[in-house]
Amino acid sequence: MKITDFYNYKKPGRKISMTTAYDYTLAALAAESAVDCVLVGDSLSMVMHGHTSTIAATVDMMALHTAAVARAVKDKLIVGDMPFLSMRKGLVPAMEAVEALARAGAQAVKIEGLEGHEEIILHIIKSDIPVMGHIGLTPQSINKFGGYRTQGKDQASAERLVEQAQELERRGCFSLVLECVPDKLAERITGLLKIPVIGIGAGPFTDGQVLVLHDMLGLYGEPPSFVKKYLDGRRLVVDALNNFDSEVKSSVFPEMKGTKNGNSERSGCLAEAPYKLALRR
Ligand code: KIV
Repeated sequence: MKITDFYNYKKPGRKISMTTAYDYTLAALAAESAVDCVLVGDSLSMVMHGHTSTIAATVDMMALHTAAVARAVKDKLIVGDMPFLSMRKGLVPAMEAVEALARAGAQAVKIEGLEGHEEIILHIIKSDIPVMGHIGLTPQSINKFGGYRTQGKDQASAERLVEQAQELERRGCFSLVLECVPDKLAERITGLLKIPVIGIGAGPFTDGQVLVLHDMLGLYGEPPSFVKKYLDGRRLVVDALNNFDSEVKSSVFPEMKGTKNGNSERSGCLAEAPYKLALRR
């Protein structure tokens, strides 16, 4: 999917799927899949680095992970998250952050919120860097929200979100992530905008859905209730590790492979070690 495809997919019957990816190995699997679009989300500060919120993500961290993802993903749109406060220190630092993500391989950036950085969003878009908006529950504002709560539940805050969504479209955003808002509000915003709205915890009526890959694979913590687990990854990985552990301790692995020159030989010759294969390429 290219950026220009986004507008064409704003139609009934064609939903957009977006997943996060943070590292080369899982990004290569996302690249192999039918998923439309890859987000290098700042959730990586939690999932990859063990922090308790996305506030810990830095520009350097985002650029490092974006570069790893870009080595694997060649034919899908890569969106990089602008991390905490990178939009709030003025135009030059914001553009330096955009530059770091773009040079690392992001073709678009996602920006949380609107108020206070309206002009910077416009400047980025006018610099020909596509911007994906992100409103509703914006995790970088977790200290203001006082927890990961559904946003836009009362009339006034719902209207504010509608206005923000329309303003982001007017400023030229090519799409919008709507996180943790009531289904009906998501449906209303989706109906009002010409750009695609991608929901997360926002019900079934948006133009597409995004999930954190480690959540849907069941690899990371206890995911929010709206997440569907497509794999019991934690169980599978822990079972595999336990099998390895017990086979090592019971001398089942590595297997005896017969004898050579009178000596018994273990299978899995060093010559096939991944670093040797890499050297041979
Ligand atoms: O960082 C992230 O993973 C995100 C998604 C949850 C939308 O922004």
